[in-house]
Amino acid sequence: MPSVVPKIAEVLGPTLSFLTDPELNAMLDDPAVANFALGNPQEMALPELVSALRGVLEPQDKNWFAYKMNEPPSQRTIANAISPRLGVRFAAEDIFVTNGGFAAIASSLRALAGPGDEVIFISPPWFFYEALILAAGATPVRVVASAPAFDLDAGAIAAAVTPRTAAVLMNTPQNPTGRVYPPEQLRELAAVLSEASRRHGRTVHLLSDEAYYRIVFDGRRFVSPAAFYPATLVLYSYAKTLLAPGMRVGYIAMCLRCRTQGA
Ligand SMILES: Cc1ncc(COP(=O)(O)O)c(C=O)c1O
Repeated sequence: MPSVVPKIAEVLGPTLSFLTDPELNAMLDDPAVANFALGNPQEMALPELVSALRGVLEPQDKNWFAYKMNEPPSQRTIANAISPRLGVRFAAEDIFVTNGGFAAIASSLRALAGPGDEVIFISPPWFFYEALILAAGATPVRVVASAPAFDLDAGAIAAAVTPRTAAVLMNTPQNPTGRVYPPEQLRELAAVLSEASRRHGRTVHLLSDEAYYRIVFDGRRFVSPAAFYPATLVLYSYAKTLLAPGMRVGYIAMCLRCRTQGA
């Protein structure tokens, strides 16, 4: 198989040039300039977060700072917190704690797709999606969501699905457009993916990156695609809500029971 490294360098190139541009970086030294380029916080971390961290700083056993797999209390806490908000009853074993959203996306892609598979992503996308799909060995397939509304185009997604489609990677509220997809569009997408999965005899998984699900304004309501499509993996990073991207904490949530019984 040819190396995917040159292709990854090609798709990340423009972003890396932008981020390392000396003129931009000189401007960022000015304290009056707010830098929204990489999602770093513009405000101090929340006192509640600092106090929670202080509370667990003292080791309570020898494994306190050991290498960790999933910790059942964390899985339970996450499952109980997100179930009512997302409208899906997650069990503790449905939660996989990850090193941030990056790892949640990358691990899911690697688990579900590889060489010969295609992964559909919605464009304009978060700048790393295409590179992460390539890094999993799969082929990225771009489906455009058009301005000004940037709606999900279920028809275009249906047309892009082939027997090689392993997954659709999407994001709501969407970075960079800000679009919060309404339930009707998510229902339509679910119908398209259910039909395509049946037709091709292969489940098309939905990777739903929900890094911004708690950051909605103007009375808009976030709805998770997981409420409509059982083969959804909810991918989350605590970075944005907690103003602490350096902490690298996130999760994959997939309702395993829903996959066989319906959501
Ligand atoms: C849409 C989206 N998904 C995932 C991530 C990655 O989150 P993290 O850096 O916490 O892994 C980001 C970060 O900017 C993002 O904007």
